[in-house]
Amino acid sequence: MKTNVTIAASVLTANYLSLKDDLTNLQQAGINWIHFDVMDHHFVPNLSFGPKILSDICQFNPNFNLDCHLMVKITTPKVHDYLKPFMLPQVKNITLHYEALTKDQLTEFLMWKNPGFKKGLAINPDTAISKIFHYLPYLDTILIMSVKPGAGGQAFIADSTNKIKLLVAHIANNFPNLTIGVDGGINDLTAHACINVGANYLVAGSYLLNSNNPIKTQVDKLFSHE
Ligand code: DX5
Ligand code: ZN
Repeated sequence: MKTNVTIAASVLTANYLSLKDDLTNLQQAGINWIHFDVMDHHFVPNLSFGPKILSDICQFNPNFNLDCHLMVKITTPKVHDYLKPFMLPQVKNITLHYEALTKDQLTEFLMWKNPGFKKGLAINPDTAISKIFHYLPYLDTILIMSVKPGAGGQAFIADSTNKIKLLVAHIANNFPNLTIGVDGGINDLTAHACINVGANYLVAGSYLLNSNNPIKTQVDKLFSHE
């Protein structure tokens, strides 16, 4: 795998009674990005976890970088107030959903200068990628959802590679630091397909944590697929 591609492990489908072992195995396999999927039973039907478990993971391994993917409707008047509990030093990325934000919330998030984390916008499979083109100058990451948000273990939606292609074509040589992320249904084959068309950040959950193979084997398979 190309060296400029980052793999983040989603712990959404982990068995939390053995999360420590999974985190240790991930780190030993060379993964230092943990993707933390927050769900609110409102924007998505599922409920997951919040800042307490996030902070426990940070404390368990100070070398992990955390990537918070908030599949939530913001329920405070200010986005800033909602995000505060998630803004821990190890949290390097916070990604909100385009579809979940009001116009004012989106504006506040985009205009927020130097928040101390990289700002991402995620878009659902049925949202056209062109909807977010206008906001690229204010963002660090676009997270293309390659499954319907709300659950791990779903199959990769094949059309997602076309979205990556459209985004790459649109940015041309602008925004060289933009992270193009893909989340959902990532395995060695779909990872390869996404990287081939320009993705440089992949979230993998069940492929890493719910396989019969050891985590290290799965990580190696992801990294070795040229
Ligand atoms: C889906 C989440 C994903 C998901 C990834 O709503 O945002 O991060 O947990 O899991 P897999 O790799 O199993 O699709
Ligand atoms: Zn996610």
